[in-house]
Amino acid sequence: MSNDSLVDRARAAALAAYAPYSRFSVGCAIESVDGAIVVGSNMENACYRLGVCAEISALTAAQQAFGLDKVARIAVAGGHVGPDGALAGSSLVTPCGGCRQAILEAAHVAHRDLEVVSASGDGIESATHRISELIPHGFGPANLEDAG
Ligand code: THU
Repeated sequence: MSNDSLVDRARAAALAAYAPYSRFSVGCAIESVDGAIVVGSNMENACYRLGVCAEISALTAAQQAFGLDKVARIAVAGGHVGPDGALAGSSLVTPCGGCRQAILEAAHVAHRDLEVVSASGDGIESATHRISELIPHGFGPANLEDAG
């Protein structure tokens, strides 16, 4: 699937976000090495800190559908839902720090420096990075070597 199509899937997923508090709808689409796609969106809560990010929701779906070992590429897009019902907004949405850490874990399982496409809500702008660029010197399983 092209970058644009994966971004479109992320943008469509954002329309199913539950984000009444921030009114910032985020969607994430994850492609497997075999071309399967799963999606997720953010789900907020009246107890604000319990909200779940789109990436975590999509990674959970990926684990269920094909396993983290098969994750190949991730697209994220976010913004507000415009009057026409489409996702709008011109700023890129790069994954938050916590989501970078979760993607790093998937990269470890997949043995792949995962590609992350960060897009604007309107889908016009995007930037592609490897997870190693988004979270350099990240804490991973290797850092637990000295655990007892
Ligand atoms: N959000 C995500 O879903 N993913 C990110 O990487 C950044 C932030 C959500 C969390 C919250 O529901 C809303 O966007 C505003 O921060």
